[in-house]
Amino acid sequence: MTMGNNLLKGKRGIIFGALDEHSIAWKTAEKAHEEGAKFVLTNAPIALRMGALNKLAEETGSTIIPADATDNAELEKLIAEAVEILGGPLDFILHSIGMSPNVRKGKPYTDLNYDWFHKTLDVSAMSLHRVLQTAYKLDAMAEWGSVISLSFVAAQRAFPGYNDMADAKSLMESITRNFGYQYGNAKKVRVNTISQSPTLTTAGKGVGGFDQFINFAEDISPLGNASAEQCADYTVMMFSDYTRMVTMQNLFHDGGFSFTGISEKVMKKYGM
Ligand code: NAI
Repeated sequence: MTMGNNLLKGKRGIIFGALDEHSIAWKTAEKAHEEGAKFVLTNAPIALRMGALNKLAEETGSTIIPADATDNAELEKLIAEAVEILGGPLDFILHSIGMSPNVRKGKPYTDLNYDWFHKTLDVSAMSLHRVLQTAYKLDAMAEWGSVISLSFVAAQRAFPGYNDMADAKSLMESITRNFGYQYGNAKKVRVNTISQSPTLTTAGKGVGGFDQFINFAEDISPLGNASAEQCADYTVMMFSDYTRMVTMQNLFHDGGFSFTGISEKVMKKYGM
């Protein structure tokens, strides 16, 4: 492990969504710890059954508090307890949560199950609003606090395999703008999304055609795909005091993928 630079020294936070060592949230927790932060780890009760998170909690000296991000009462309890355990208001929150039953069960976009579509939007997008609203009502964030959630470029452009998660990410980015406005005005809290490259995680691998797509993205992007560790680096920067005036943004962290039309590598493959 490399030495940190104390970028988050004295900062307190909550990290949602570390499932296993591949999770973007897992890497972010390790990095935040390295940079001197104290935080509470949380995930849905069902995701905690395997016990993998205990290892990360030990490694980072963190407490685990279970909470389903679609349940207001559980979020209220989580945020109130986190403030108490950490001994003060929160400086950062990482929302690293996504799930679509339609993707999981292979329902195509033209034949969606609407109960599942509701679930996709609730878990993957509205949960961000719930987290923000709960923190806002409890006045649990410190001034200049920073909230990050993770998005994907399918919020702006069509990626057929991404299915209803594309709509969830669009909604999440919209909530980021609208709550970012409110929270900025009220308390100087900033709210942003990081739009990450395809990454080999449980959620990533669930998307149709992922194995081929990740190679395609690697070939398109001038810098190649951004890894989960690099995403953690960027997130830590966004939690730090060096990015205080950035809010309501969707920040592409994808090696240039989103702004590249075609690359020489791909042209060669097509004999161009
Ligand atoms: P992951 O599978 O490790 O993390 C997803 C997390 O969401 C899991 O920890 C899961 O337990 C949690 N979750 C699901 N339902 C929940 C609920 N009701 N309450 C609380 N937590 C719940 O996968 P990954 O890739 O680390 O995903 C993190 C975020 O990054 C997601 O928002 C995902 O959409 C986003 N992202 C992932 C990309 C990829 O290719 N892996 C690319 C761009 C964005």
